Amino acid sequence: MTARRLLLLNGPNLNLLGTRQPEVYGSTTLAQIEARVSEVAAEHDLSVRAIQSNHEGELVDAIQAAREDCAAIVINPAAYSHTSVAIADALRSVALPVAEVHLSNIHAREQFRHHSYVSAVAEMVVAGAGPLGYEMAVRYLADRLAP
Ligand code: DQA
Repeated sequence: MTARRLLLLNGPNLNLLGTRQPEVYGSTTLAQIEARVSEVAAEHDLSVRAIQSNHEGELVDAIQAAREDCAAIVINPAAYSHTSVAIADALRSVALPVAEVHLSNIHAREQFRHHSYVSAVAEMVVAGAGPLGYEMAVRYLADRLAP
């Protein structure tokens, strides 16, 4: 039977959500986002493994491990979006559907945020919808995985 589990992966500094630049990222904490993602996933009979890391290699390891027991990946690679070929390659290697989330609209911000290496691997990208973006990503993947 195919795994009914999503990997929810959050990159560097997202552990500080709630207090980190609230004018850009809002006041919702990562714990609140993870709880809401689990709630929405459960509506679709999906479980969630939530991991946050400030370390590129740990994110790569988590992506590789998802190959064993996850059906899809929701990822906010944070600053690594703009720099990490390793994370994009890991996502490419596991060949699971990927939804990329950014709380802020990266295209309306500094030039260096406009390009994400992960977007070339993602099936869907949501940016600028705040925490709701995670919910949209889960709903997209639930639909995508529907029999
Ligand atoms: C972010 C946008 C990135 O540019 C930034 O480095 C982050 C968060 C977002 O969710 O809007 O850390 O991915």
